[in-house]
Amino acid sequence: MLTGAGISAESGIRTFRDSDGLWHDHRIEDVATPEGWQRNPGLVLEFYNQRRRELHKAQPNAAHIALARAEETFDVRIITQNIDDLHERAGSTKVLHLHGELKKARSTADPSLIYDIEGTELNLGDRCELGSQLRPHIVWFGEDVPAMPLAAQIVQTADVFAVVGSSLVVYPAAALVQYVPPTAPIFVVDPKDVSVPTWREVIFIKEKASVGVPKMLEAMRDFFTEDKRKGE
Ligand code: APR
Repeated sequence: MLTGAGISAESGIRTFRDSDGLWHDHRIEDVATPEGWQRNPGLVLEFYNQRRRELHKAQPNAAHIALARAEETFDVRIITQNIDDLHERAGSTKVLHLHGELKKARSTADPSLIYDIEGTELNLGDRCELGSQLRPHIVWFGEDVPAMPLAAQIVQTADVFAVVGSSLVVYPAAALVQYVPPTAPIFVVDPKDVSVPTWREVIFIKEKASVGVPKMLEAMRDFFTEDKRKGE
């Protein structure tokens, strides 16, 4: 399962590329690149502090909850591009964050030093145990995606794959679709058309996540029951 900003939209968290999206109010190069951080770390810290204040008020929605509940039937592996913790707060137990986590900070001297952020604010002068400035534990544009090899490995073992709430325009995340085994059906849940970078047929559920994810899980259950019947 690959999720994007769209799955958190109904929790009140803005997406990036919808009309009211984050990238319409902020220049990516100012708030989500290493160059922006070098130029004005205070602006970057404030951008993510604002995201953390919004997240503090947000709750998981029906889509997050349905995916958490699906762990009773499926071995659900969530690979998310989102930096929020709504999957975890809904109860999902296997969540891999490709682009980092909003509630974590990391040392600028030693990237292996990662800390939970108490509250919503991370400010200039907040330092790691080595005395260096802390930065958001988030993958910025132009930086490596260290979780990508593990994510690809997980997708290669999938019996079924789904994309929920992603425009699939950012790489390498979007390329995960190419790791799906040929026998595994691919579902996409999104109220808008999404161009999926695969030659394969895709089962499109053109709904908001809160409606589309429960529908998708129903279809997955039917698919596997059907398969079992055939297999008998
Ligand atoms: N339910 C499901 N999908 C929705 C909903 C909803 N309620 N509302 C919007 N969407 C869909 C949009 O139609 C769009 O396809 O969610 C998708 C959001 O796309 P983006 O804003 O591009 O978000 P995402 O794909 O997660 O962006 C990937 O880009 O900016 C970087 O690092 C950032 O992780 C992010 C990455």
